[in-house]
Amino acid sequence: MTKVFQDLQEWMSFRGSAHFLNKKVGFVPTMGALHEGHLSLFRKSLSENDITVGSIFVNPTQFNNPEDLKKYPKDLEKDLNMLSQLGVDFLINPSFERIYPDSYRYKVVDNEISHDLCGKHRPGHFDGVLTVVMKLLNLVLPNRAYFGEKDYQQFLLVKEMAKAFFMSVEIIGCPTVRDETGLAMSSRNERLNDQQKILAADFARILKAPSSIESAQEKMAESGIKVDYIKEKWGRRFGAVHIGDVRLIDNIQV
Ligand code: PAF
Repeated sequence: MTKVFQDLQEWMSFRGSAHFLNKKVGFVPTMGALHEGHLSLFRKSLSENDITVGSIFVNPTQFNNPEDLKKYPKDLEKDLNMLSQLGVDFLINPSFERIYPDSYRYKVVDNEISHDLCGKHRPGHFDGVLTVVMKLLNLVLPNRAYFGEKDYQQFLLVKEMAKAFFMSVEIIGCPTVRDETGLAMSSRNERLNDQQKILAADFARILKAPSSIESAQEKMAESGIKVDYIKEKWGRRFGAVHIGDVRLIDNIQV
C-alpha cells in the first residue's frame, strides 16, 4: 500500500529519518490522472532505486488557461490503486497552500529554452513548471527523477535547471508511451470524444510521416486539426495542436 503524505512538514521529518539512510531514492512527479506513460516512469524508478516516491499535484501556476485547469482530469482513488499495485512506496499529495506558502512570490525563470515552442504559446507555463519541480525536488531529495519525453522541452528545462543550481539529482528522460493508434499517452486524452480521438491519432501519424513541416501543417488543417506549431529543433520534430478544447503535444526524433 502506497503511503500518502499531504502534510509537507510530516513528510520532511519522515524524509530525514533513518528509513532513508543509505537508500537510493527515485522520484516521479505527476499531476495525477495516471496512465501507462506515468506507469512506465514508476516502473523504471522501481527497478533502479530502493525507494520510489511519487507526487500528485495539479499545479495551477503552470496553467495559462483557467478552463484547462478546471477541466484537468482527477481521480485520486484510481491513481492510488495503480500506485499501490505497482509497489510505489510513498506519494506526496499536497494542497496549493502547502506547496506555495509564499503564494508564488518566488519563481524559477529560464530565459532561453522556454522562449520557444510551448513556452512561446503558453506564457508563464514553464515558470510554473520549473518552480514546482524545484520545490518537489527539494522536498523529496531524490537521487534520480524521471520525466517523460512527450514533454521534451520540460525535460530539457528541468535537466538544465538541476545543472544550473548544482542539484545532486540525475534527471532521466524516458521514451513516450503510445496507444495502439500511435497517439502519445496523456492525461488530457481522457477529455477526447470518439471523433476527436480519430483526429488525435491523425495528429500523431502526420507528425511522424517523413514529409515537410509545411505539408504536415496542411494535412493537419485539412483534417480539421488546429495547429499551434510544428517545428524542428534539437534533432526532433515538435507539434502542438488543439482538438476541440483539448491541447495536445507530441514530438519524435528526426
Ligand atoms: O509533466 C507534468 O505532469 C508536470 O508538468 C509536472 C512535471 C508534474 C510539474 O507539475
